[in-house]
Amino acid sequence: SQRAGFKNMPLVDFTVPEARMAFPEAIARIRTQRGRTWPLFINGREVVTQDAIASYNPADPEEILGHVCQAGREEVDQALQAAQQALPSWRDTSPADRAAYLFKAADICRRRVYELSAWQVLEVGKQWDQAYNDVAEAVDFLEYYGREMIRLGTPQRMGNAPGEVNELFYQAKGIAAVIAPWNFPLAISVGMVSAAIVTGNPVIYKPSSLSSLVGYGLVEIFQEAGLPAGVFNYCPGRSSVMGDYLVEHPQISLIAFTGSVDVGLRIMDKAAKVHPGQDQCKRVIAEMGGKNAIIIDDDADLDEAVPQVLYSAFGFQGQKCSACSRVIVLDAIYDRFMDRLRDAALSVKIGPGEHPGNFMGPVVDRNQQQNVLAAIAVAKEEGRIAVQREVPGNGCYAPMTIVEGIRPEHRTAQEEIFGPVLAVMRAKDFTEALEMANNSRFALTGGVFSRSPKRLEQARKDFRVGNLYLNRNNTGALVYRQPFGGFKMSGVGSKAGGPDYLLQFMDPRVITENT
Ligand code: NAD
Ligand code: ALA
Repeated sequence: SQRAGFKNMPLVDFTVPEARMAFPEAIARIRTQRGRTWPLFINGREVVTQDAIASYNPADPEEILGHVCQAGREEVDQALQAAQQALPSWRDTSPADRAAYLFKAADICRRRVYELSAWQVLEVGKQWDQAYNDVAEAVDFLEYYGREMIRLGTPQRMGNAPGEVNELFYQAKGIAAVIAPWNFPLAISVGMVSAAIVTGNPVIYKPSSLSSLVGYGLVEIFQEAGLPAGVFNYCPGRSSVMGDYLVEHPQISLIAFTGSVDVGLRIMDKAAKVHPGQDQCKRVIAEMGGKNAIIIDDDADLDEAVPQVLYSAFGFQGQKCSACSRVIVLDAIYDRFMDRLRDAALSVKIGPGEHPGNFMGPVVDRNQQQNVLAAIAVAKEEGRIAVQREVPGNGCYAPMTIVEGIRPEHRTAQEEIFGPVLAVMRAKDFTEALEMANNSRFALTGGVFSRSPKRLEQARKDFRVGNLYLNRNNTGALVYRQPFGGFKMSGVGSKAGGPDYLLQFMDPRVITENT
C-alpha cells in the first residue's frame, strides 16, 4: 500500500508521564518471562534444539533472562530449504505487496515500542532513551525501505531511440544471510533483514548471541505482519558451529553483515570462495568498526562541545561504531576544554540502565568487560589517566576512562576499544588536528566543533569519513536524514538508510524490445 512521505519516528519525551511510566511497567512484564527457552523459527514454525545458551543481564549477571536454542548445521540446512522453497513466489510478489509487510511491521513496532525497548535495557544494558531510539530507528528502516522499494520497483524506460523500448528493472539476488551485532540489536537487525526481504530475498537471520532475545522480537513482528513461511528464518547459533557454514554455503547469494572488522574480513574471504553447487558470486555488504575523532578548534563553543563529546564518547558506554573514541584538541584551548570535560565526566551517575538517572551503565558482557579493562591497561602505559570513575557493584562494568597524552602511533589511538574509553590528543593547529583525525585505518564518523567557517570548510574537504558532523554529536544518525556508513576498514557497501542501500540486494536487468 502506498504511504505518505517518509518521516522519522519522533524520539521519546520523558516529560510525558505515559512514557515515563511505560518503561518500568514493560521491564516488569518482561521479567515475568524469565526462565523461558526461546526456539528457533524456521519455515513459519518454532524449532526447539537441545543446545541452548543463557542470556543474562549485564548489570546483574546472575539474572538469567532466558535460554536461547542454538542452530547447528542441520537447522541451517532446514532454514535454507525453507528459504529456497519460498524464493520463487516471494521474488515474484509485487514490490508494493512486499513493502506492505514492512509497513505492517512498522505499525507493530510502534505499538510495542516499550516492550521492545525494555528487552534492550535488560539484555544489553541500554539506557531508556538509547533503547527507545533503537526501536524508533527500526521503525524508520521499515518505513523508509518500504517506500524505497516502491520507488525502485517501477521499471525505468531507458533511452529514447525510435523503434525500440528498453526497460531497466531489478530482481532479488536469492537467499540472504543476515549476520547482526548486539549493539543496535533491533535497529540494525531490522534494517538489514527488512532490506533483504523487501527486495525479494528470503532471509536466514543470525543475531548476536549477546542479543538473541531482542532478536526474537523480529520473529514476533514478522509473524504478526503475516509474512509467508520461509521468508524470514531466525537462526541464532554459535559462530564456531554454524558461522562459516552459513557464509560458505553454496545456496547463499548475499550476506549482509554488521560487526567487527576481523569478522567482516573473515566473511569476505570465505564468501569469495566458490563451493560445489554454487552458481552465483556472493555479494557481501559489510559495515564494520570505527575509531572516530572529534576535533575541538580553538574557538569552539565549549558549552556545546563538552556535553556533546561526553555523550558521543560514553552514551551506551561507548559501544557504538559511531562513538567518539579520540578527541583532538587544539593547543590554545586544551586546558580550558580538559578542565570542563573532567568536571562533566565526574558529574554523571553510573549504574544500571533500568534506573533512568544513570548516564552510563555496564558493558555488554564479561568478555567485553575484560577486553575494555585490557585496553585501559594499555592506555595507562601509553598516556596519563585524566578521569577514571569507580564502577558500581558486580555487574559487567568497565570504568569511564579519559586518557591524555595519546599520540597517533599509540594503540589507544588506533585500535577500536568499543567501550567507555576516550583518548585525548593535543594538536598544534587545525591542519595537524585533521592529519591526526585521518590517521586511522577506519573512516566511519568524525566531528568538528568550530565557529570558523573557514575551518569548517577545510574539514568538509579534508576530514575523510563516511559521516562528518559539524558542531553536534557524532552518534545517532537518522534514517534518510543522515544515511550511515563508512569506508576504508569501516566497511564496504552503500549507506544504510540512504537511497542506494536497497540496490545492493538486487541484480539489475534490462529488456529491449524491437517495436
Ligand atoms: P562481531 O563481529 O563480534 O559479531 C557480529 C556478528 O558476527 C555476530 O552475530 C557474531 O555472532 C557473528 N560472527 C562472529 N564470527 C562469525 C563467523 N566466523 N561467521 C559468521 N558470523 C560470525 O561484532 P559485535 O561485537 O557483535 O559488534 C560490535 C562491532 O560491530 C564493532 O566493531 C562495531 O564498530 C561494529 N558495528 C558497526 C556498525 C556500522 O554500521 N558500521 C554498526 C554497529 C556495530
Ligand atoms: N547509526 C548509528 C549511529 O549513528 C550507528 O550512532
